[in-house]
Amino acid sequence: MSGTRAGRPGAGLAGTALRTCHQAADLPPRQAPDPTPRRPSAPTPRSLALPQDGTLRAALAAATDDRIVYDLDGIEAQYAALLRELPGVGVRFALKACPVDEVLACLAQLGAGCDAASPHEIEQALRAGVPVGLIHYGNTVKSDRNIAEAYRLGVRDFATDSLADVTAIAVHAPGSRVFCRLATSGEGALWGLSRKFGCSPEDAVLVLEAARAAGLTPAGLSVHVGSQQMTSEAWQSALDLLAGVVGTLNGRGILLDHVNLGGGLPALGVLDKRGRPLDPPVDKMFAMIREGVQRLREVSASPLDFLLEPGRHLVADHGAIRAHVSRLTARRQPSGELRHWLYLSCGKFNGLYEMDELQYRLEFPTHTAALPSATPGTPAATVPAVVAGPTCDSDDAYAHEDGLVRVPAAAESGDPVWVFSCGAYATAYMTQGFNGFQPLPYTCVRAGAASPEVPPR
Ligand SMILES: Cc1ncc(COP(=O)(O)O)c(C=O)c1O
Repeated sequence: MSGTRAGRPGAGLAGTALRTCHQAADLPPRQAPDPTPRRPSAPTPRSLALPQDGTLRAALAAATDDRIVYDLDGIEAQYAALLRELPGVGVRFALKACPVDEVLACLAQLGAGCDAASPHEIEQALRAGVPVGLIHYGNTVKSDRNIAEAYRLGVRDFATDSLADVTAIAVHAPGSRVFCRLATSGEGALWGLSRKFGCSPEDAVLVLEAARAAGLTPAGLSVHVGSQQMTSEAWQSALDLLAGVVGTLNGRGILLDHVNLGGGLPALGVLDKRGRPLDPPVDKMFAMIREGVQRLREVSASPLDFLLEPGRHLVADHGAIRAHVSRLTARRQPSGELRHWLYLSCGKFNGLYEMDELQYRLEFPTHTAALPSATPGTPAATVPAVVAGPTCDSDDAYAHEDGLVRVPAAAESGDPVWVFSCGAYATAYMTQGFNGFQPLPYTCVRAGAASPEVPPR
């Protein structure tokens, strides 16, 4: 990693860092009991062993200052589970989801490659031990200089979606292999990637014919069904689309050797904007992918291998943040309504970039008695609040409407807060100290061992 590493003095994992729990029910309520119905405590999604016990939880409990913690054992287990579901599929971890050297190294040791989006990401993957032959330049957006630099670093697999890009690859990365990305609708995903990338089936044929004519190898097709995809049908549509284009290309004498199914596999432990568990149907998704892979192999005139570029799915549920309460307030809104706001020490600009589109599970370890499930019939123990980050920016908050979260009424400035399932798109999206709130340091942990804290980049 590059950049200044300005450590936080005094931040470290200590053996016993938990303060005595407040007995919230014993404390006088700060506010009048609120009539808002309690959100039922979220059930654990069927397919998920939430990493809320064991290694991650122990590391959060031991932290005496804010940080993000990655559980390497959990990430490895997630990778192994993915390969059990989709045997034989090659993984190119989407580095953007967690550009943390230790995470890349542990996945590389298991045989994963990387999907990189820039020469800097390629360099980081190489430093972490990813063999260059397993690094795919998956970004269709690249300048001549980016292409030449990637080629100089040894990369030979490039995603593309336009004639202009193919022409540039032929000049700056001669003889390389190209994958043409097909546009998908992005329907069913929290973040559809439908417009900026990908071309129509007709254009894909033209692009790969142009690649062949320019001395490149038209090696494959790729898709991305949108990030945090919530439907198995999205893969069905993508696989149908791919089957049609493979057939057309075969008719034009273009025989592919790979299909790249991109990212999109979901995190399992996050909540929607209203605080309901998302619970994506991952079993169905995997079944759909297995069936589609089989179908594509039957349709193709040449043997096909398959790649996936998961980002979120591998890391989201195995990263968590130890933050603290900045302040719990109650203010009258312009409508006259009294509303609680819980300001945390981290938010959209330092660890929770996706907080305006989803909610994370929060835990207040010094207020366990105030959890709704622990105190049925104790109305004053929790209050419904908008959860927000610390900056002077109104985007730095959970969605305001219908997004209220039950938080301990007795929460005080400095109380620790644990934020779960935020291991994806956290580190990379941290600003360089927006409003003076520094990016979080990170720690990688395994059962019984924590690596040294790494200060912000
Ligand atoms: C080309 C490409 N591949 C893979 C991914 C990873 O997606 P996800 O985190 O949804 O798995 C992305 C994310 O934007 C991407 O752009």
